[in-house]
Amino acid sequence: MPRILLFTGKGGVGKTTIAAATAIKASKLGYKTLVISTDPAHSLADSFQMELDPMPTKIDENLYGMEVNVEYELEKHWDVIKEYLSIFFKSQGIDDVIAEELAIFPGFDELASLLHLLGYYKEGRYDVIILDCAPTGETLRLLSVPEVARWYMNRFFGIEKKLLKIIKPIAEPLVDTPLPSEEVLNKIQELYTKIGELKNILEKEDTSVRIVMNPEKMVIRESERAFTYLNLFGYRVDCVIVNKIFPTQAGDYFSKWLELQNKYLEEISSRFPVPIFKVPFKDTEIVGDKLYELCDELYGNEDPTKIFYLDKPMSIEKENGHFVLKIKVPFASKQELKLLKRGEELIIVAKQWKRIVFLPQSLALKEPIGANFINGELKIKFGEIHERGKNQGSNTR
Ligand SMILES: Nc1ncnc2c1ncn2[C@@H]1O[C@H](COP(=O)(O)OP(=O)(O)OP(=O)(O)O)[C@@H](O)[C@H]1O
Ligand SMILES: [Mg+2]
Repeated sequence: MPRILLFTGKGGVGKTTIAAATAIKASKLGYKTLVISTDPAHSLADSFQMELDPMPTKIDENLYGMEVNVEYELEKHWDVIKEYLSIFFKSQGIDDVIAEELAIFPGFDELASLLHLLGYYKEGRYDVIILDCAPTGETLRLLSVPEVARWYMNRFFGIEKKLLKIIKPIAEPLVDTPLPSEEVLNKIQELYTKIGELKNILEKEDTSVRIVMNPEKMVIRESERAFTYLNLFGYRVDCVIVNKIFPTQAGDYFSKWLELQNKYLEEISSRFPVPIFKVPFKDTEIVGDKLYELCDELYGNEDPTKIFYLDKPMSIEKENGHFVLKIKVPFASKQELKLLKRGEELIIVAKQWKRIVFLPQSLALKEPIGANFINGELKIKFGEIHERGKNQGSNTR
């Protein structure tokens, strides 16, 4: 089955460049590679300096690229459903223009790209499929689309098809709500099935998300947030790529920047417990042939399709009414452990080792009330402040 790599990161950090360079490296190693751009700005074509169609276009030996045309996709997959929904909303007394807007399923543009991924995945013609995603926030939304879509569909179309077929002729004249036709229901069922398949593929071990970042404060913050939420949604981040690192010969003018970047590079290693790849800031923009040079600098002798990290570094579960954050830690035995919560951050310190975890909203408002350590995993229980101390055996202090 094809290996899937999704590249995300804050705006402008170098996602498209890194995705393109990764695709080149994979294709040079003999993998048949497809790189898909989901960005309506179409920068993948600029990066390769050639036109790309909304279907796989040959770029080089073993290397194909495409740019998704969202409007076309919308029409292909959603038109029938959209028509029904807008009639439905209008029947509820919603203004025409608003009804039309509401009828576009939230996140459909993202879903369109993912449906492509599904298609090419199942077709099995490529060894590697690379997705150059939109900036982090949108990617997170995109990756939650399968869940959200299921919810949305259940809510709206949670009526059994067979049942509907029987009741429609009887019920429709009696209620003032138009019921969906069989065509609409078929289309919904088709989408529903695809979304389920998609979710399964995205959660597989050989699907990895790679976060591209620059050694800068704001970029690191956003990447941390993404890392936490990706873990939470059950996606696997197998490495992060720090791009645009100033070379030491950058000169006096950049000396402060060099110092800052070094500090941030250290911070990155305490915040992202996955392999870190580093890419220098080049003396010119990286397009066309320059990508071919960059791809070796990026991965060196490594195979870019390798799964660099497989473990799930953290997860959140609910146990007996409490949220429990589970974190993999590299030490083997219980030792002096300090937990410190500062707003959205949880800081875990054990001797020389330090890990900073960005907490999701559900935990940021709570306090750690107990912790224990079993088989290389730290389990931290969260609750209200007044619950602290009730829990025997806590070694948080
Ligand atoms: N290591 C680097 N050295 C020099 N220039 C770089 C490097 N990486 C990327 N660039 C340049 O930075 C610019 C932005 O890169 P790119 O388009 O890959 O970012 P992006 O994250 O995809 O942006 P967007 O969020 O707009 O999609 C491009 O002009 C690219 O050539
Ligand atoms: Mg881009």
